[in-house]
Amino acid sequence: MIEVSHLTKHYPGRVAVDDVSFAVSPGEIVGFLGPNGAGKSTTMRILAGYLPATGGVVRVADHDVAEEPIEVRRRIGYLPENCPLYGEMRVDEYLRFRARLKGVPRAKVPARIVEVKERCGIADVGNRIIGQLSKGYRQRVGLAETLVHDPDLLILDEPTIGLDPNQIRLVRGLIAELAERHTILLSTHILSEVEMTCKRVLIIHKGRIVASDTPDRLRRRMTGEASVIAEIAGPRGEVEPALRGISGVADVQAEGGDAWVRYMLRAPRDEDPRPAIAALAAQRGWPLRELHREAATLEDIFVNLTQTDEAEAQP
Ligand SMILES: Nc1ncnc2c1ncn2[C@@H]1O[C@H](COP(=O)(O)OP(=O)(O)OP(=O)(O)O)[C@@H](O)[C@H]1O
Ligand SMILES: [Mg+2]
Repeated sequence: MIEVSHLTKHYPGRVAVDDVSFAVSPGEIVGFLGPNGAGKSTTMRILAGYLPATGGVVRVADHDVAEEPIEVRRRIGYLPENCPLYGEMRVDEYLRFRARLKGVPRAKVPARIVEVKERCGIADVGNRIIGQLSKGYRQRVGLAETLVHDPDLLILDEPTIGLDPNQIRLVRGLIAELAERHTILLSTHILSEVEMTCKRVLIIHKGRIVASDTPDRLRRRMTGEASVIAEIAGPRGEVEPALRGISGVADVQAEGGDAWVRYMLRAPRDEDPRPAIAALAAQRGWPLRELHREAATLEDIFVNLTQTDEAEAQP
């Protein structure tokens, strides 16, 4: 559905997208993750046929974006960042205008508008002026617009940005529903959003793809080592060296408290020191109130892969 090969985009004095290649198959829901300035919006704009690339080939819905941008735009639903709407228009008016522009046959327009308003939870604001709606509603009008010509592929640039938690839930639910019938490429900063909705994640950093995998496998890739957390009440000067003495424990850090001390241990994934810690505490009579292993989160992975956040500092 999307084939990107060796895509580059230069702005004056700045490389925004640097030799990026990836593909999205029909029916896939792919999350596009990256810190500010990584090149997400630039890539999406090129995919949607709104911005020319400097180099590389992009095919979307079986059309070359550079050669047939109009064909591409008809086949995809693109929700831009800071979705620009015609603020002075009424919602129905706007959706009608956009539907016609996207080639929906006149006779089918009213039914399409009813359907997308229903899906996006804006059935009751058809007569309102867009500029007078709240941000969340405007975002949903934007989503309705991306769906109005019933495209197979949706390219959504941060669809939940600026929404309150209730609205985020609504929009997320809507995306999950759309995922049943559409191919979706979705950019976001919200990692839980990716975990909930996406089967695969592309992580972009400084214009380059640094990872492409399922959230699960990404997590596993990170967890060659696991952290073990133990909270023990005992003399720190005795507990700490005793913990270090346990087989497989690579590193111990202690934190806090007069009575309860929180120890963070690192251990290889295949060696679980928890039984030995429990036994040690019991043997020495040190109260133990917490003992668990922490898997790496998508956030750990994201931070690990994109730590140097200096995209804006490029000359
Ligand atoms: N019109 C432009 N002219 C010059 N540089 C630009 C332009 N648009 C974007 N850039 C630069 O290109 C790089 C990529 O920007 P882009 O908007 O694609 O990032 P992003 O991943 O969408 O970031 P964010 O998460 O903040 O939306 C940034 O360094 C940005 O400053
Ligand atoms: Mg962006």
